[in-house]
Amino acid sequence: MVLSHPTALLVRLLHVTGVGVAVGGAVLTWAASHRAVSTGRADAVDGALVVAETYEWLFWGALGAVVASGVGNLGSLGLGVSGPETAWGTTLALKLTVLAAFLAGSAARTLSVSFAAARSNADAATAGRLRATYAVTTVVLLALVGFGEVLAHG
Ligand code: HEM
Repeated sequence: MVLSHPTALLVRLLHVTGVGVAVGGAVLTWAASHRAVSTGRADAVDGALVVAETYEWLFWGALGAVVASGVGNLGSLGLGVSGPETAWGTTLALKLTVLAAFLAGSAARTLSVSFAAARSNADAATAGRLRATYAVTTVVLLALVGFGEVLAHG
């Protein structure tokens, strides 16, 4: 079924809003852990861990909305969805492959943040690991945004 125009717009709005929450949150979490590394203060490390734990909840909510609305985007294109033999189809296939690997990596990231938060010995090394993790998260999310922009605007 092809979605009607206002519904398709709403689906796109949900897609872009979810992406904004995921990317903005990853940058904020990176910034909090960067601050903890730079100051080396224990309260900043604890703060960075709290921000990371909160982000993980937001991340999975936002990604749920992004994936659901991404499928909705395909629905609104209907028969206009081209196969992998076209540049558009290859971009979509690449985007979905990167996304699948990213979601698997994100499950590991969520687990490691929750283990780190459960330990009482969070230190500068913990903050350094968080900073690297959220730098990678931000870069992969931006790559997915790039694929999305190519899909939508060529
Ligand atoms: C199952 C997952 C996903 C599917 C099936 C999907 C599908 C799509 C499709 C078909 C479009 C083009 C819409 C159009 O031409 O009107 C699109 C646009 C886009 N996607 Fe996704 N997507 C998914 C996940 C993601 C993720 C994880 C991100 C980024 C983190 C993302 C970012 C974007 C962006 C930024 C656009 C451009 C929106 C615009 O400028 O209007 N998508 N997506």
